[in-house]
Amino acid sequence: MTQTVQDSAKKRVMIKTFGCQMNAYDSQRMTEIFESLGYESTAEMGQADVILLNTCHIREKAAEKVYSELGRIKLIQDARRASGRDTIIGVAGCVAQAEGGEIFKRAKMVDMVFGPQTYHRLPQFLAEVKRRREADITGPGRGVLDVDFPEEYKFDNLPKAQAAGVSAFVSIQEGCDKFCHFCVVPYTRGAEYSRTVAEVLDETKTLLDQGVKEITLLGQNVNAYHGATKDGEWSLGRLCYALAELEGLERIRYTTSHPRDVDQDLINAHRDLPQLMPYLHLPIQSGSDRMLKAMNRRHTAAEYMVLIEAFRKARPDMAFSSDFIVGYPGETDEDHQASLQLIRDVHYAQAYSFKYSPRPGTPAANLECKLPEEVKDQRLYEIQALLKEQQIAFNESCVGKTMPVLFEKPGRHQGQVVGRSPYLQAVHFFGDLEQIGQIHDVKIQGATGNSLGGEVVG
Ligand code: 5AD
Ligand code: SF4
Repeated sequence: MTQTVQDSAKKRVMIKTFGCQMNAYDSQRMTEIFESLGYESTAEMGQADVILLNTCHIREKAAEKVYSELGRIKLIQDARRASGRDTIIGVAGCVAQAEGGEIFKRAKMVDMVFGPQTYHRLPQFLAEVKRRREADITGPGRGVLDVDFPEEYKFDNLPKAQAAGVSAFVSIQEGCDKFCHFCVVPYTRGAEYSRTVAEVLDETKTLLDQGVKEITLLGQNVNAYHGATKDGEWSLGRLCYALAELEGLERIRYTTSHPRDVDQDLINAHRDLPQLMPYLHLPIQSGSDRMLKAMNRRHTAAEYMVLIEAFRKARPDMAFSSDFIVGYPGETDEDHQASLQLIRDVHYAQAYSFKYSPRPGTPAANLECKLPEEVKDQRLYEIQALLKEQQIAFNESCVGKTMPVLFEKPGRHQGQVVGRSPYLQAVHFFGDLEQIGQIHDVKIQGATGNSLGGEVVG
């Protein structure tokens, strides 16, 4: 009986994450803040006393999803209210940063709107929402808004990182100063900055103590990393060497990189460090120099190919992923063919491709020479078909090979385990659930477009 009373008193939060891994990291950190306030997480919106959307603004569709989600949440809030339960609704992340107070106008039931640089202030936001509720404040003054780029340092004001599995994200860098002409990130995430080396090592050690075996270093421009130390700034490559010394850290990954910021340290790190996984997400966006220039990428396709070759020379089993934008304003069929050719030249293991989506406030949004939707659709189709073909070919090339696989979680069938290959492929096999968190050799016996299957051999 006491149990039931306690349970019903327990506050619950549901955080729904849109967009990139950076948002996934922020959601994890916000979950930790809620835990420190006595909340537990729920996957069911109807059970949640606080519903928080951590949003993405990178393409128009991503932002629109937030408003349709808010429409659904309103129904849940109404239903809960009818049974006497209150629901606090928050919008965090990049849509919050970009739209600010506009969100309160379009979705009147939203209680708090805050950006990626202020979420450490969540306890104050919640207290303020409750205060305004109690004071019965309605209308425009009801919502709590904070889309500052504050003086105080977010990371100094967060609880200690908590592991949620054997693989964890560590944010090392945020923001971007590159200003690609299509991209909102420099406006939503702000100017580029790096966390200190000591902070990154500390957070990683905290996670390793909790059983983490793999970390993915995150940043919008992760290889622009320049973390302060007592003896000057360290590059991403140098940081990887230091991380590789940490006891218990078996795998290191990083994302997302910019071709302009690849340096020899990073290439050497791939040559020297077995912990650094031989898989690199290196977006190029287009294979046409004309488009790369128009996009303000500040490198050519040939320079990109030189980097790919340098990584392959350093680590012959290196595999690559990328991002492509099709239908950028002014893109001709010749430009599109250049992208297809570059894809054929690189042979990607996997890659993402998107139709260009004009983002308000970015230089490209004002360009006149927009392409018809049918042309963009056709080009996207062609790029995706080629990338899919390469992904299947890459997965099939793994069949017959034995790979170290990090056992991550139970699979859908009894006795099945799902793990990750060095190339981030999901690998399904029958194995010992007790071995989750360990790395064992798996002989790959089958491949689909999206995953591998195999047998544990070591
Ligand atoms: N339209 C389409 N795709 C975009 N991206 C970024 N901005 C836009 C846009 N305006 C893509 C890029 C980037 C990835 C994260 O999203 O390919 O690398
Ligand atoms: Fe956006 Fe370009 Fe910065 Fe990447 S490098 S976050 S695409 S501005």
